[in-house]
Amino acid sequence: MVTVQICVGSSCYLRGAPRIIDKLQELVADHGLSNRLILKGSFCLEQCTKGGVTLFINDDLLTGVRYEDIPELFASKILPAVKDVSG
Ligand code: FES
Repeated sequence: MVTVQICVGSSCYLRGAPRIIDKLQELVADHGLSNRLILKGSFCLEQCTKGGVTLFINDDLLTGVRYEDIPELFASKILPAVKDVSG
């Protein structure tokens, strides 16, 4: 199971975390991954100064993520993580 944790602390919230979560939910559904990936909200991950939104893909910390980055990030980081777990 892959865990994607998205910061919804006030800075990240204002920088678009809710839209990012919506987009991720849509991509997860489109790819039929809802039983292989968990999306979770998180309190402030103490990376507010980095700009954009902070998230973890498993133990990988990503900072400065923007809504526009999500399709590329999904393809380059999330799908490979899911494949790793599934073998
Ligand atoms: S609010 Fe997201 S890192 Fe602080």
